[in-house]
Amino acid sequence: MSGLRRREVLGAGLIAGTLPLMPPAVARTASDVEESPLLHGLAPRDDTPWALPQHDPSRLLLDEGWRFHEGDVVVPPPASHHETYLSVKAGNARGAAAMAWDDSDWPVVRVPHDWASAQPFVREANVSQGYRPRGIGWYRRTFRLAEADRGKRLELQFGGVATACQIWINGSLVARNSSAYNAINIDITPFARFGEEDNVIAVRVDADALEGWWYEGAGIYRHVWLARRSGVSIATDGVHCDPRLVDGRWWVPVTVTLESVEKLARTVTVTAVLRDGAGREVARGEAHAQVEPLGRAEARVTLEVGNPALWSVETPTLYEVEITAGHLDGMDLRRVPVGFRTIRFDAEKGFFLNDKPVKLKGVCLHQDHAGVGVAIPDALLAWRLARLKDMGCNAIRCSHNAQSEAFYALCDRIGFLVMDENRVFNPAPENMAQLEWLVRAHRNHPSIVLWSVFNEEPMQGTTQGVEMVRRMRAAVRALDDSRPVTAAMNGAFHDPVNVSQVVDVVGFNYYPGDFDRFHAEHPDLPITSSEDTSAFMTRGAYASDPAGHVITSMDKEAAAWGATHRDAWREIARRPFVAGGFVWTGFDYHGEPTPYDWPTISSYFGIVDLCGFAKTAYDIRRAQWIDDRPVVGIAPHWTWPGREGQEIELLVTSNAGRVRLRLNGRVVAEQDCDPIMGATVRTIYEPGVIEAEALRGGEVVARAIHRTAGKPVALRLTPTRKSLRGDGEDVAAFTVDCVDARGLHVPTADARVRLGVVRGTVLGLGNGDPNSHESEKGNERSLFNGLAQVIVRADAGEGSLAVEASAPGLRSARASVPVRQVSPPPALAAALPRIVVADWRCSPAYAERPDPALRPADGDNNLWAFVRTPWVAADDTQPGWRILRGVIPARRALATRGGQLQFDRVAGVAELWIDGALAVRKGTPDPAPMTVALKPGAREIALLVRSGPGVPSGIAGAVRVTTN
Ligand code: GAL
Repeated sequence: MSGLRRREVLGAGLIAGTLPLMPPAVARTASDVEESPLLHGLAPRDDTPWALPQHDPSRLLLDEGWRFHEGDVVVPPPASHHETYLSVKAGNARGAAAMAWDDSDWPVVRVPHDWASAQPFVREANVSQGYRPRGIGWYRRTFRLAEADRGKRLELQFGGVATACQIWINGSLVARNSSAYNAINIDITPFARFGEEDNVIAVRVDADALEGWWYEGAGIYRHVWLARRSGVSIATDGVHCDPRLVDGRWWVPVTVTLESVEKLARTVTVTAVLRDGAGREVARGEAHAQVEPLGRAEARVTLEVGNPALWSVETPTLYEVEITAGHLDGMDLRRVPVGFRTIRFDAEKGFFLNDKPVKLKGVCLHQDHAGVGVAIPDALLAWRLARLKDMGCNAIRCSHNAQSEAFYALCDRIGFLVMDENRVFNPAPENMAQLEWLVRAHRNHPSIVLWSVFNEEPMQGTTQGVEMVRRMRAAVRALDDSRPVTAAMNGAFHDPVNVSQVVDVVGFNYYPGDFDRFHAEHPDLPITSSEDTSAFMTRGAYASDPAGHVITSMDKEAAAWGATHRDAWREIARRPFVAGGFVWTGFDYHGEPTPYDWPTISSYFGIVDLCGFAKTAYDIRRAQWIDDRPVVGIAPHWTWPGREGQEIELLVTSNAGRVRLRLNGRVVAEQDCDPIMGATVRTIYEPGVIEAEALRGGEVVARAIHRTAGKPVALRLTPTRKSLRGDGEDVAAFTVDCVDARGLHVPTADARVRLGVVRGTVLGLGNGDPNSHESEKGNERSLFNGLAQVIVRADAGEGSLAVEASAPGLRSARASVPVRQVSPPPALAAALPRIVVADWRCSPAYAERPDPALRPADGDNNLWAFVRTPWVAADDTQPGWRILRGVIPARRALATRGGQLQFDRVAGVAELWIDGALAVRKGTPDPAPMTVALKPGAREIALLVRSGPGVPSGIAGAVRVTTN
């Protein structure tokens, strides 16, 4: 790294892609110069690999067009015996779960959706959930299926709903789910309607139910899909690719679970083809299976691979197994990314990947972000992960629950080692099913190296706890015996009975003082720190102010059970038998405000804040974790008006071994710098340039610089992306900061900024301040210690996404990102609900014309038949009259404006009565349409029809209602 030239670098344009507000600046060209470490990694990036391939091409996205109602919809209980009888019948759900419920005045939302992230902060609301009221909410969505979809297997898939929910399809309750973290997959084939008929999904979400002690959000916060598969298909999560190395050669045993909704047995040919990243075929195999009607069957194929390129953290090479399951009349297909790697936890030497020791340099993550809560767009998730990768992080613990589908796919592609964690510690059937789902859904991901059955359970030192873990471990191993099982313990390590006795790897949450004793007593048990650190920092603050709930970012404060970033890693790094650690936490998260509560609403634990802006911990971790290039960091910034002549303490962090500090060109210190602990230097403040030079062999190999900024004069906007995909899904975050007259970032600016967007939608805003109660929605946000963030989704299609920022007294900024034309993911559009009258009561046949007022007696469930139109009487050998009674669904528009009632075709001589008044007569028996005007509020229909002999009677087509 020799030959680094000293250059004058101006501030504006530091973040490439920003519209120049200042005179043109010299662009940064050498990656080993860290100009203003406060802006680490915020420059626009090329596409991170977030646009994930369709692993299941049968799926259609159902993200758009949901009607949302905040609050419960309470309807009175059934009043009569008859209503009660009907209310418990299939398809007859009541209230907002009913097909016919009028949702026309519910706002339309798009999922991922987290209604809690739009809530104000309320002192009485739950502290752990970040003082945000959550409550109950309802969602509804109407869609139609083509006639050609009859006979297919139709599965509705929710990636995640926070928290407990009930789901109805066409008025039948099809799922009750208690966890926010597992996918909900529902076979809706028997309920589905085709052609002109509506299908209605209704979801009641109870977000008052808690599963965690952190912010969990509220609503349908992950994607929703409809899988439309052939009658014999590959089950969801029904492919298990399990690469194995045997005698120096790789094999992929592939197990495929097939299922059938068909009426006949089928012989299915299953083909598995392994392809490399360039699409070249590497191996192929075939098997056959017989699948009985409504049955399941397994097919097994083993692919001989030989010596593939291995998957690793540095080179996460992925292959793909394409599986087809076909018979004469149908075919289903799945693509499963796979990676070839060996993993091993060694009790003496820690973790090995491909037989090489790799220390787990990990972070724990919750799944929320500023502005959007838990409804994180995939592109934002990719950016979050890229931030961690840049820092040298190589491992992530999913604390304390499964993350989204995209998360694991991204970890495979970016190269993270993942500890995947189960939420509820309980082997009862419902929770065991959640654990089994976790393993089945994720076991093909090469990134996952460890399953965790719990986090910190008070029963960890009891016989009951041991029995529970024993069962849960067995359930995991039955589905995947290729990875060890752990449990994140926070004590009981030395108790006579404790769960370390029944896991493969012991997880230590904190308690570094017990590493050595435990290892000495159990020399054959591998251990890892599963959680550590819990240090506190407010991003951009360099002095603590307990009264203001501000904590210095100089790595001085930590929870009583935790340690600073430097102390925590020192304990882990120096013990080879500790496989690694997982910092609590990578990102700040809403909720669990510690050590302060109200008005503090989020955590201080993150290495980066809620927006992903770097705290000093980011530099500390870079020095500790990056080993393939020299890095250096320096804190605090160098803008301290009024502190001239006073001593300032600096923390210099570097992996180079030695650092030199220059103030305005003069060397003010040179000393050794421990990569873990950094170097503390004190110097007298004078405005200008402070530089930290990292030295190796006397040569400068990296440099970090802060410059004293003047007063803010202009705003600046910097997108996180160089270009966006015009698929209607892609998202960029824009960093908002202020620059001074020379174009330098002003780290103390706190302007309140108003934002405007062209060809996009603001999804949310943030600034990383744990004490801010500003709304995370809307178009205004204050900078906090110099920074704010706006998250924007680009409109579909080619063009340019532009964001404008303005604030009183500052020059405005504008930044744009080109948006490329790409096809949107396949989606099933929401349909406008049609008002139909489909369910009727039909009287017995009467020889004489009956009184149109005749109706079934309360309690008569049998004499008057229940019929669903189209319906025509089959017994027309004798002339006779029947009455068909139906009810017009309640609709606000109908009640106020009236409308029309249209029968496609009525067969037989007929009289139509509405609310006891004759509306129209049909004198001829041939099937013909009937249309009448409806007065506002019209409800009851009585259709008298006369049949036979040989003349059918009834309602031969659809019955529609339109409103005026
Ligand atoms: C741990 C716990 C985490 C978080 C953390 C805060 O005990 O596992 O979820 O609460 O403490 O320090």
